[in-house]
Amino acid sequence: MNKELTIIYPSIFNELTSPWDTEYNIAKELGINVCLFDEETLNILKCDLTDQVIIYRGWMISIQDYIKLSENIKKKGGVMFIPSEQYKKANTFSNWYNLLNRYTMKSYFIKDFSKLDDYFNDGKEWFVKDDLKSLGGKKSIAKNSKQAIEIYNQIQENRDFKIENNGICLREVIDIYDEERFFALNGEILGIHLDKDRLKLANQIAKKIFEKLNLVFISIDIGRSELKNILVEVGDFQISDINKEGDVKKIKECYSILKKLIF
Ligand SMILES: Nc1ncnc2c1ncn2[C@@H]1O[C@H](COP(=O)(O)OP(=O)(O)O)[C@@H](O)[C@H]1O
Ligand SMILES: [Mg+2]
Repeated sequence: MNKELTIIYPSIFNELTSPWDTEYNIAKELGINVCLFDEETLNILKCDLTDQVIIYRGWMISIQDYIKLSENIKKKGGVMFIPSEQYKKANTFSNWYNLLNRYTMKSYFIKDFSKLDDYFNDGKEWFVKDDLKSLGGKKSIAKNSKQAIEIYNQIQENRDFKIENNGICLREVIDIYDEERFFALNGEILGIHLDKDRLKLANQIAKKIFEKLNLVFISIDIGRSELKNILVEVGDFQISDINKEGDVKKIKECYSILKKLIF
């Protein structure tokens, strides 16, 4: 027997959490099974998930919580479409950087913070991340090692879970504009995209990630810098939100394709 798709969304006190309502309604309109889970406890609310394949949509959660959620789903008879190892791999920067370094900003991982000063010669600035997140935009740009450590510490404080310490990541600062989020399933970009060059790059990246890292469902952010398309970030589809104009249309296209998948 074929399995069916259910998409699960976060809730608090049995109420769907904003901003996931837009997507929840799209899924319902398309006739996709939907179900809520409690954001705090990760318990599944009143759904029978027998023979269901589950896609999670929600905030970034720790790998430990993702495993816990997967277990709760299993207890209800369902199975996660994206296994926990893939969830972890997709969101970890150091995991995809080496494979894709020719498409993205040059980056360095520094574990020994006493070596940071070596990177800030001649007034050079760096974009600071840890292995999961940045502070976003200008707030993540450091002019010296002290600022880099402050940004790094702030990133840790902003998150309610701890991650493996893979050091501070310094990325070449570039002017990025016109960023676009692509969703890729099994190495193919989903939905309609008008810019052919950009789509070509996104497809190349999607194929590499699928073939070399075995990640089945991801998001790929591509921006423009000095008239050239450039890879900004890769992430797990499930926690890649839709915050730009046009993204809602894209998620609708994604959901329509997901609905036709045979598991
Ligand atoms: N190297 C960089 N130089 C300048 N801006 C950057 C750089 N890297 C990222 N950004 C900007 O910061 C935003 C957040 O960076 P991103 O790598 O996506 O981290 P996050 O994990 O926090 O989303 C990007 O969408 C982009 O606009
Ligand atoms: Mg990002």
